[in-house]
Amino acid sequence: MKLTVSLISLAVASGALAPPSGQIPFTGETPKPMTREFIPLLGFGTWNLDRSNASEAVSFAIQSGFRHIDCAAAYGNEELVGKGIADGLAKTGLSREDLWITSKLWNDHHGAKNVPIAIATSLEKLGIDYLDLYHIHWPVSSKDKKNHVGYKSTYAAMTKLLETGQVKHLGVCNFSPYQLDDLLNSTSHPPSVHQMELHPYLQQNEWIDWHSKHGIHVTAYSPFAGANPTYDPGEPPQLLHNDVTQRIAKKRNCTPAQVLLVWGISRGTSVIPKSSHADRIVENVGALTCKLEKSDVQELDGLGKWHHRFVNPSKSWGVDLYEGLEDSKGKHTKSA
Ligand SMILES: NC(=O)c1ccc[n+]([C@@H]2O[C@H](COP(=O)([O-])OP(=O)(O)OC[C@H]3O[C@@H](n4cnc5c(N)ncnc54)[C@H](OP(=O)(O)O)[C@@H]3O)[C@@H](O)[C@H]2O)c1
Repeated sequence: MKLTVSLISLAVASGALAPPSGQIPFTGETPKPMTREFIPLLGFGTWNLDRSNASEAVSFAIQSGFRHIDCAAAYGNEELVGKGIADGLAKTGLSREDLWITSKLWNDHHGAKNVPIAIATSLEKLGIDYLDLYHIHWPVSSKDKKNHVGYKSTYAAMTKLLETGQVKHLGVCNFSPYQLDDLLNSTSHPPSVHQMELHPYLQQNEWIDWHSKHGIHVTAYSPFAGANPTYDPGEPPQLLHNDVTQRIAKKRNCTPAQVLLVWGISRGTSVIPKSSHADRIVENVGALTCKLEKSDVQELDGLGKWHHRFVNPSKSWGVDLYEGLEDSKGKHTKSA
């Protein structure tokens, strides 16, 4: 679908929305470049954005108020996303430092020799000279089970990027408690952020608390649960259409998507919804004006009984992932 910049989006870009402080830095108080403490809690996901409108969608997201863009080498679209970033900055008059831009090192670039190549390629494609945050995408260095624990030497090589200035912060995604602990014991540069799947069907409360005790920010990916068309929808009803989500949305005069984003932000996690549609991009930014009551959050918390994880490539990659977070049937365990 073609995106067009509507009057609504221009109104949003000019600050017509009054976002809660710390969400979208319109105030000028935010340090430039941003630090971990100032990560905009509403980010824009870019997985599955393709040639049809990736650049337009990213540009439109920036014009609509998004200040955090989540990218990855594996999404195969960094060049298109980079064009969108340049266009969004030009159209809003913002500068690079007004954005928090994240990318991720893919499984085929683990290892000290590959890290400088991976970062240089991502920066060149994105058309920028530093990343605010560079993640290890998975604690998996190849499809070969024997080699899958390569993250410590990879991470050690990534710390050098802090010195070259190519990266301002380091992060990981999809690590198990054992793997993260193992990494923390091997480095004097703890990751600033851990990105993982989180939504009301997969809440991981104790795991989030652990991060907060260790000063590691958590970013929630797939905040709409099974809405990503590449996921097997599985047993639970679509979260956006769940009766609970729908009822709360109606009661609070918000949309179901906004309710889910506010639920994530209210737990202190950043949320990174992806959309290729202009109306949904504007709707998702509008989450910042949606107010939920404590009782709404408690009702959404009740959906945690599903313990449903949508992203688990353990079997197809032949590696053990999420050890300590899943029971023997692959269901997320209540306590973790
Ligand atoms: N680190 C990792 O391993 C990892 C894994 C997964 C995802 N991520 C990151 O997290 C981002 C978000 O996760 P995700 O893309 O899996 O899923 P998501 O953002 O939860 O859901 C995306 C889906 O929801 C639809 N959607 C967006 N806004 C909507 C709205 N307001 N109403 C109804 N439907 C809406 C989108 O459709 P349209 O596009 O058609 O509008 C798309 O099909 C990714 O793009 C990626 O950046 C990271």
